[in-house]
Amino acid sequence: MMRSVFLIGFMGSGKSTIGRMLAEPLGLPYIDLDQYLEQQQGQSVPALFERLGEAAFRALEREALHTLAAGPPAVVATGGGAPCHFDNMAFMKSVGKTLYLKASPEELALRLKPELGNRPLLEGQTKQSLPGFIADMLAKRASFYDQADIVVLTDGQTKQDVVRRCLLFLKGSRT
Ligand code: S3P
Repeated sequence: MMRSVFLIGFMGSGKSTIGRMLAEPLGLPYIDLDQYLEQQQGQSVPALFERLGEAAFRALEREALHTLAAGPPAVVATGGGAPCHFDNMAFMKSVGKTLYLKASPEELALRLKPELGNRPLLEGQTKQSLPGFIADMLAKRASFYDQADIVVLTDGQTKQDVVRRCLLFLKGSRT
């Protein structure tokens, strides 16, 4: 049976969109880790950050990851920071396949500009400061993201192309 697939990558890299599109051809249910947390906690991610602070949010995120991994296999779109805290990356690799949707800081800045104001980690950023902020954060996170079993580059690709490439790699690496 197919194991779970964990989509990882920076905010705005397309994890939720691509995850939803992958679920059907893989014959797996789709789960969004942030949405799961929001339903479980009865609050939005920005509200959880605000109320609990980042450290407590990360602890909840880790717990949710373990709960989901104990259930049936699924395509799981994780939050952008999930692989970068605790031993989450090693854990996801041990229970499933990790797939990094890799986009350049320039592409991410374009996609995230309209999101300024909705994302707790982008608080205080402006259209001018965003590209540099993303580049710095991506540099800090690269050592986690780069541990993924599969890396798919997304710059200049259509969603359909990205999905096709993901499926090719996932099916090729199925054991
Ligand atoms: C975060 C990414 C968000 C969400 C939270 C923190 C991050 O998820 O989990 O705001 O640390 O990069 P998305 O990557 O789905 O936007």
